[in-house]
Amino acid sequence: MYTILTPPQIEMGSGSLTSLKEIIASYGTGRVLIVTDKGICQAGILDQVIKATGKNINDFHIFDRVLPNPDISIMEACGQVVESDDYALIIGLGGGSPMDVAKAAAVLPANGSRIKPLLGRGMIQKPGVPLCLIPTTSGTGSETTQAIVVDDPESKTKKAIWDRHVIPQVVIVDPDLTIGMPASLTADTGLDALIHGIEAYTARSTNHVAQAYARECIELVTKHLPIAVKDGKDLKARSGMSLAATLGGLAISNGGLGAIHGLAYPLDTVKHIPHGRSVAIMAPWVVDFNRVGNEDTYAMIARFIGEDVDNLDSVAASQKAVKGIINLMESVGVSPYLAEHGIQSSEVDDLATEAFQVSQRLLPSNPRKITKDDAMSIYRAAATR
Ligand SMILES: [Fe+2]
Repeated sequence: MYTILTPPQIEMGSGSLTSLKEIIASYGTGRVLIVTDKGICQAGILDQVIKATGKNINDFHIFDRVLPNPDISIMEACGQVVESDDYALIIGLGGGSPMDVAKAAAVLPANGSRIKPLLGRGMIQKPGVPLCLIPTTSGTGSETTQAIVVDDPESKTKKAIWDRHVIPQVVIVDPDLTIGMPASLTADTGLDALIHGIEAYTARSTNHVAQAYARECIELVTKHLPIAVKDGKDLKARSGMSLAATLGGLAISNGGLGAIHGLAYPLDTVKHIPHGRSVAIMAPWVVDFNRVGNEDTYAMIARFIGEDVDNLDSVAASQKAVKGIINLMESVGVSPYLAEHGIQSSEVDDLATEAFQVSQRLLPSNPRKITKDDAMSIYRAAATR
């Protein structure tokens, strides 16, 4: 028995941004807040979105102060903006950071205005202001998840809100908005989507529906990411990646995550490596650990990622999952070795300790039980070329 939660309306595909005009009208004539960041404004994407509404920028309230890895204070500040007026709709526009701030800001006013009491699972009591999310990258999948990731500067860790009330009412996934993404951001965010597929497919908490999303996500990334990185203007590849990211979000929101995300956190928070690159670096080494006792599952991952596993026994086939991940990473210019990302082998024990401490919420759903010594061994494998 399991529950599947998805946004009720997803507008998908090239040109789907044109639906925004009608969506805004369907929420009445009240004020609309757009939550975004300065990079999105400078790239001209905010203008593109406003143009699609047939309105003027002065018809909207713009909150563009979101920074990468948003912390509690910026989410509460945006929540106060929502509280200060009678908004009919909030639009979150950008990568994972603006979308997560928009998700938080939508529910804060009705739920005490503070983030900390809402951390954890199912702590939100009341629905928020209607929310429309428009991703401009292809990776995080935040547009379809019931999760908000938030930096807690006090404990210097990432924390999460996990609640059905933060699922948006409407999502617009228009690959046209991702055309201008630089190659390195395309690679990092695309690998995040890949790891969402792999973790959701293999998580202890997964189910058949989440696995269907996850399988499609992995196959789409394998097919389209190398092309999207090589030629950002290839709309077919961009469309494939937009779809992959959305499916990856649905997969993790309904299936769960595991030790790849868990062990990657200090690379994000301590070493400031972009999230997608962090999880990709840890992926081959965690998969190599996880496949023991789960060979058949990882043989399937190997197949989805394009490896030929016919005529192999399940152990050999599962090893191909590791090889397939490394091949895909290297094809988009991301090394799986920590040293190539400026991390010395003398640092890995501290990073592993930190990871094991802060990631307890993610480790129970990992397909193989993981101890602190295991975390150390996995980090050491990532440090050894
Ligand atoms: Fe992720």
